[in-house]
Amino acid sequence: MRKKYSKNKAQSAKDIPTLQDEAPLIMKKRKNLLRKNLTLSLTDFIAKPEETYDINNEYKFLEKLGFGTYSQVQRATRLKDGTSVAIKICSGSTSIELLKKEKLLLEELDSEFFPQIFDFKVDKVWNKAYLVMEHIKGETLDNYIRNCCKIPKEIIEDLICQLCAIIKYLHSKKICHRDIKPENIMVTENMTLRVLDFNISKKLKNTQEDIIRDEVFYTQVSTPKYSAPEITSKSGYTSAIDIWGIGIIGYLLCGGSLTTEEFNEAEGIYQEKKYFKQYIQDSHFISKDLRDFLSTCLSLDPAERPTTKSHFFNSDIINSIVGT
Ligand SMILES: Nc1ncnc2c1ncn2[C@@H]1O[C@H](COP(=O)(O)OP(=O)(O)O)[C@@H](O)[C@H]1O
Ligand SMILES: [Mg+2]
Repeated sequence: MRKKYSKNKAQSAKDIPTLQDEAPLIMKKRKNLLRKNLTLSLTDFIAKPEETYDINNEYKFLEKLGFGTYSQVQRATRLKDGTSVAIKICSGSTSIELLKKEKLLLEELDSEFFPQIFDFKVDKVWNKAYLVMEHIKGETLDNYIRNCCKIPKEIIEDLICQLCAIIKYLHSKKICHRDIKPENIMVTENMTLRVLDFNISKKLKNTQEDIIRDEVFYTQVSTPKYSAPEITSKSGYTSAIDIWGIGIIGYLLCGGSLTTEEFNEAEGIYQEKKYFKQYIQDSHFISKDLRDFLSTCLSLDPAERPTTKSHFFNSDIINSIVGT
């Protein structure tokens, strides 16, 4: 059964974050930065008092939409015309640079699969940056999966086809997302997917049409429980990690779970990933074609995963979504 979407909560004084709300986030960030030995400035740790109310009197902040490792995202109103926007806020020089890159990548994407970018502001005094974008109404795929008891086969098939169309589009633009996971995907009210968070995405240098797997990365990115097994290997990884991401989303949509509490050591996580393929093969309630496709996406060897040039990515259904 389709999940009903909860409406946005009405704004109340309680929704406006206070310094106390932000304290755990600030402490977490401080720890992460210290671990990475990065230079810190005082303003990295002190919440800018008026930030919860506006940026240059142009936006009014309403409520927290979510947060991730690098940022906090607020819903706000653009005061000049009342448009509802989402504002991603980062602080500290490293995070600001990443947000700038995210803005540039998103601006290249002329498609409804991604949020439209409206504005970008840097506050040099408080060392903060604000990426103003389209507010996507709906919920994260993470919440959607958590709130559904069993997702119907038709919905699983439709969502996977949409995700394939999105990855095909990104790879055709020579962009490797590098962080495909349910928290970075939104399901809108009419069940269309939108991909967010290009914070650690990479523009590939290779300009040849169909060999984007050539470029090898070594930076360890993404979230261990979702990430492709080769991310931690010394030989590096390619855009095939996004294909693994499709497989993981398929695994979760089919009811698979990630037991990271028990398997929090790197080797444990790796062992667990070996079972995903078999789990999909045993998920007989989805079509054989989809089972075969998802299980190859979950191949531990990236060379065995399909590329966006392969048969499944070029089926009529996926071409019709990409074309919209
Ligand atoms: N444009 C948007 N519209 C609605 N919600 C959003 C939007 N962008 C981000 N969010 C929410 O904020 C969360 C964090 O955003 P994300 O870009 O993933 O930040 P991070 O890079 O810190 O992980 C998302 O999981 C989502 O819940
Ligand atoms: Mg994120």
